[in-house]
Amino acid sequence: MIDLNNKGYTIKLGNDDVLIELNQFVGDRYADNNVFILCDSNTTEHCLPKIDWLDLEHLKDAEVLEVEPGEGSKSIEIYYQLIESLLELGANRKSVLINLGGGIVSDLGGFVASTFKRGIDFINVPTTLLAMVDASIGGKNGVNAGGVKNQIGTFSEPVGVFISYVFLETLPKKEINSGFGEMIKHLLISDKQALSKLDQLHSIVKIDDIAKSVAIKLRITQEDFTESGARKALNYGHTFGHAVESYLLSKGVSITHGEAVLMGMLMENQLSVELGRMSQSEKQSTENWVYAKFDLKSYFKQLEVAEVIRLLQFDKKNEGDLVSFSLVGPIGNCAIDVRPEKTIVESVLSMFCN
Ligand SMILES: NC(=O)c1ccc[n+]([C@@H]2O[C@H](COP(=O)([O-])OP(=O)(O)OC[C@H]3O[C@@H](n4cnc5c(N)ncnc54)[C@H](O)[C@@H]3O)[C@@H](O)[C@H]2O)c1
Repeated sequence: MIDLNNKGYTIKLGNDDVLIELNQFVGDRYADNNVFILCDSNTTEHCLPKIDWLDLEHLKDAEVLEVEPGEGSKSIEIYYQLIESLLELGANRKSVLINLGGGIVSDLGGFVASTFKRGIDFINVPTTLLAMVDASIGGKNGVNAGGVKNQIGTFSEPVGVFISYVFLETLPKKEINSGFGEMIKHLLISDKQALSKLDQLHSIVKIDDIAKSVAIKLRITQEDFTESGARKALNYGHTFGHAVESYLLSKGVSITHGEAVLMGMLMENQLSVELGRMSQSEKQSTENWVYAKFDLKSYFKQLEVAEVIRLLQFDKKNEGDLVSFSLVGPIGNCAIDVRPEKTIVESVLSMFCN
């Protein structure tokens, strides 16, 4: 087991041993209080049994709350249903909520916990690669609103993150690839040698790579918890990415968050070239590599420029009329608060949509 202990809270990474450690953690802190586990129906089916199988005394009697899988559950309506369930089940300020799932469950559960009775403890037990390396770390929680991602939320950290890679055994390949999207982002914003490391990263999920990716996210979010500066680098790929994801999901296209971020990174790299930040060769090498590994072209074909532009206007990072980007260039460096002219943004988008 790797202890990624950081200043604020416990972070453990490993195998079944992490779940045994989680049980001990809950026993030490919440033995006389209500313990709740939030799942989606897939994690109830695939992940909860792994906990049950270990017969962990402090977890086996926990009350399980379940939501449907997918972005649709990151909504204020589902949030409210969960609050009502907690009230009905007698939750109080000493209760703890364990979020057992991917980023949907940890974003939603973190928001529920951080607002219920002005905030109760929560623990993230990520079950997707994306949530292990990204969503479970850093304290951003929330739900979508008005067809736009993450419009309502809090900055609030879990009391612990317990990352057990046994959960990856049942995770579909498409979701593994989604996690690679955020891991690639972490490399490109922080490592000048990122291009030469991409192949190694993508071949198979390795515990060391998870640990390195978590370390990058932790370092940045600890430096700037509420995103007034350095943390904005983590939004690389997400300005175009969120707009593309919201648009395609609204059309019923099943795109993962990581795929949308990869699309966003390719578009933002082009923007970076247009603004003289990234070299053409760095852009081309990254693009060639991404297209060889991920099937993104069919998504690009389904985009409508005007709709994506409209959705860009809702980005939380915007100030004034201009859309704000975090742009990599050269690789390993990320500039924040870049606000290109609208015409450049539209022309880059058009290059990818045709
Ligand atoms: N808060 C943050 O800092 C942050 C960072 C990145 C992404 N996010 C958010 O995370 C969300 C995406 O998270 P995600 O990619 O984990 O998606 P997800 O939570 O939707 O999980 C993906 C799919 O895998 C299923 N699943 C989960 N674990 C499984 C397992 N072990 N075996 C089988 N199936 C399993 C889920 O039910 C779901 O169908 C987005 O809403 C995104 O905005 C948040």
